[in-house]
Amino acid sequence: MKKYILALTIPLSFMATANAADGKALYTQKLCQTCHGAEGKAPIAPMYPKLNGQSATYLLNQMKDIKSGKRNNGLSMTMKPMMAAVSESDMAAIADYLANVK
Ligand code: HEC
Repeated sequence: MKKYILALTIPLSFMATANAADGKALYTQKLCQTCHGAEGKAPIAPMYPKLNGQSATYLLNQMKDIKSGKRNNGLSMTMKPMMAAVSESDMAAIADYLANVK
């Protein structure tokens, strides 16, 4: 039983770490900072949202909805074209990263 639990927890914790690190890199690679600023903390315009510290689930849902066009309010059209190159797993990694930025 002990062995079983160990085998299960190691890959899970490894995945969580890899995910957060990728999210940070992806945030820059996908040019998110050009609008939302470094670490999602310093948007370039007052109308653009800060992203850090929000719930990961909320962030992921907003990204999915903006990409699909389901969320089509305010200035979301400025972000939509940027999302074409961002997969759902990339979004999840970025959401995990941003949720943990204080
Ligand atoms: C061209 C500028 C631009 C780029 C690049 C951009 N965004 Fe956005 N993003 C916006 C704007 C503007 C909004 C607010 C839309 C609105 O007014 O409703 C937004 C909204 C969001 C939201 C919803 C925030 C909330 O509080 O509801 C998330 C999450 C987000 N962006 C993540 C990202 C990520 C991750 C990237 C990189 C893959 C990215 N954005 C790239 C402009 C941009």
